[in-house]
Amino acid sequence: MINGQRLTLRPWNEGDLAFFQRLRNDVETQIQLLAIPRPNPMHRVRKWLENRSNALDAAFFVIAGIVDDSAIGFIELREIHPVHCWGSLGICLDRDARGKGFASHALELMESYARRVLMLRKIVLNVASTNDGARRLYESAGYRTVGIHHQHYHVAGEWLDALVMEKRLNVEEPQPEAATTSRIDRQHVPSGGVRHRVSGERLATP
Ligand SMILES: CC(C)(COP(=O)(O)OP(=O)(O)OC[C@H]1O[C@@H](n2cnc3c(N)ncnc32)[C@H](O)[C@@H]1OP(=O)(O)O)[C@@H](O)C(=O)NCCC(=O)NCCS
Repeated sequence: MINGQRLTLRPWNEGDLAFFQRLRNDVETQIQLLAIPRPNPMHRVRKWLENRSNALDAAFFVIAGIVDDSAIGFIELREIHPVHCWGSLGICLDRDARGKGFASHALELMESYARRVLMLRKIVLNVASTNDGARRLYESAGYRTVGIHHQHYHVAGEWLDALVMEKRLNVEEPQPEAATTSRIDRQHVPSGGVRHRVSGERLATP
């Protein structure tokens, strides 16, 4: 349980099921989440919440109002990697709760938890290039676009690009140069092998 000034991040409970059934059946929102919208009866919603909460490489929180503790959304880290120390972010708010700064606040709380408790160095995410609200949220929170998956998601007859974004949580670490982050240089070396470099860091010399 993480208490902020305007909201709480907490585990899900039975009282949240109706809220999540509505969210999981909101087709437009599921598309924004890059999920495939499907009809979700209550037993599937419960399974989804259980799977999210039981995964050992994930941290799933309900975003709840500070006054009445009712659910207004969720925020999660998935694919948390114990060696590389990063996790993949997901966030979603109820339509009525959007545009009020709750997402920015929840993100700050999650980043602090990720850095101090999970010892993560970085948060990564994919966002559809057409998702203006989410892009604005991430950009204003300091996430940088480090790559693009071109025509990565099929939505109603259109192929959408996905932006790959990330934020370094450990400010003491040197930041890579943005321009070279996604470039891989291949250099032939005297041994006849190929040396791969990413952002100036030597990866392999076969
Ligand atoms: C993305 C989402 C979580 C943002 O929530 P939110 O409560 O609207 O965000 P906030 O109110 O904290 O606003 C954060 C910033 O984004 C901006 N913003 C939010 N919605 C916006 C929109 N539709 N268009 C443009 N800017 C928007 C705000 O102005 C604010 O910018 P600022 O910090 O410069 O003032 C919410 O819209 C949502 O749940 N969308 C559906 C699910 C989704 O797309 N999840 C992300 C998938 S990658």
